Amino acid sequence: MTRSTTTGGATARVRARGTCRICGARGLQSIVDLGRTPLANAFVPATLLKRAEPRFPLRLARCPDCGLVQLRDVVDRSLLFRKYLYFSSSSGTMPAHFAGLVEAALRRHGGKTPGLAVEIGSNDGTLLRNLLGTTLRPLGIEPARNIAQQANERGIPTWNEFFSKPVAERILREHGPARLVFSNNVLAHIDDVHEVASAAARLLEEDGAWIIEVPHLAEMMRRVEFDTIYHEHLSYFSLPPLERLFLRHGLLLVDVQQVPVHGGSLRLTVQRQRPGRKPRASVARVRAYERRLGLSNPATYRRFRTRVHAIRRDLPRLLRGLRHQGHRIVGYGAPAKGNTLLNYCRIDGTILDYILDTTPAKQGLFTPGTHVPIREPGVFHRDPPTHALLLAWNFEREILAKERGFLRAGGRFIRPVPRPAYVPPKR
Ligand code: TYD
Repeated sequence: MTRSTTTGGATARVRARGTCRICGARGLQSIVDLGRTPLANAFVPATLLKRAEPRFPLRLARCPDCGLVQLRDVVDRSLLFRKYLYFSSSSGTMPAHFAGLVEAALRRHGGKTPGLAVEIGSNDGTLLRNLLGTTLRPLGIEPARNIAQQANERGIPTWNEFFSKPVAERILREHGPARLVFSNNVLAHIDDVHEVASAAARLLEEDGAWIIEVPHLAEMMRRVEFDTIYHEHLSYFSLPPLERLFLRHGLLLVDVQQVPVHGGSLRLTVQRQRPGRKPRASVARVRAYERRLGLSNPATYRRFRTRVHAIRRDLPRLLRGLRHQGHRIVGYGAPAKGNTLLNYCRIDGTILDYILDTTPAKQGLFTPGTHVPIREPGVFHRDPPTHALLLAWNFEREILAKERGFLRAGGRFIRPVPRPAYVPPKR
């Protein structure tokens, strides 16, 4: 079913799926309904604050057959990804993480002869730049015009496209097959995962490897990372549905590692199926971990919903209480996930004075739906508040290390998930 939302004069399209995007089963089971929210990266300029923003349903459900946790509602991808405000280079953590990822991939699958490495959703080239000067030539595929342009300017050849079978065919014609294909934090963004898996399979050299990172459903459940639910994130992956996807396209999951980024992610290595090629022990290990956490048990998802409701009750209560005592609170970081949190918990400019963020493109804008102004970090350092809500909690370590001065002066960080708490804990 396709319907149009015409709130605020903007005609935006959203489609409700009736079937699982991996196995096609019907009867998706509801996990949690986060209401109608604006798009998480649709930061608002001051001139448009009076205009009503388009809102879209945000409902999480689970496939009764393959177990894929997914959004029911799919927003038109050109609305989400043609202009983008997220830059991989906006933290210190991600560039270092990508450097380690590329080094490991080259060691294991790089080979000794010249070859090609393609990244699907290559953003500003932060990952691919690690390949400059190696035996593998980098090529990025990135749908956001503004970001693809920046990558090209930084010397990373980047095509401004959504990855697809025709794009894979064009790469094969112009460059030949790829020894490495990377997709970091993009598979969850893609509605037609079959198109992408089949295109990646076609693009790989015989012994090439497709290296994928996706946030892990297990960690989202365990640490109640419900704010990572927003319209860009269509799938929340665990191994069984992924393995089903790969098998359908002649691919085999050969290795999986649990990595700490984005609240806990999986790094998957996928290769063509071939006689004698077998998964490493890591695959069985992560499967067992998921079983222990009860990912195949509906009670796990009911418990998650209860814990999400508790955050919506407790977090605004804590913050309002602090305001009443005369404290000043700001938001730390303006990630997309912060906007799920703020909208769902109804935290706005009456609670947060402003949100600081290092991304120049976000500064001066306002958060979608809740209209909290985003300022540059200097404001925070010149006139520190008493409390900072750690919206970018996935960078807790980096931020706490950077803000030792704020902490020493008595400032407090509040982390919203898995339950609102002071970090470091209250003395
Ligand atoms: P991130 O959590 O990576 O992404 P998502 O949008 O997918 O939820 O975004 C982190 C945001 O936090 C990004 O806008 C940069 C910002 N940030 C700071 O402002 N200061 C910091 O010290 C760090 C690490 C991030």
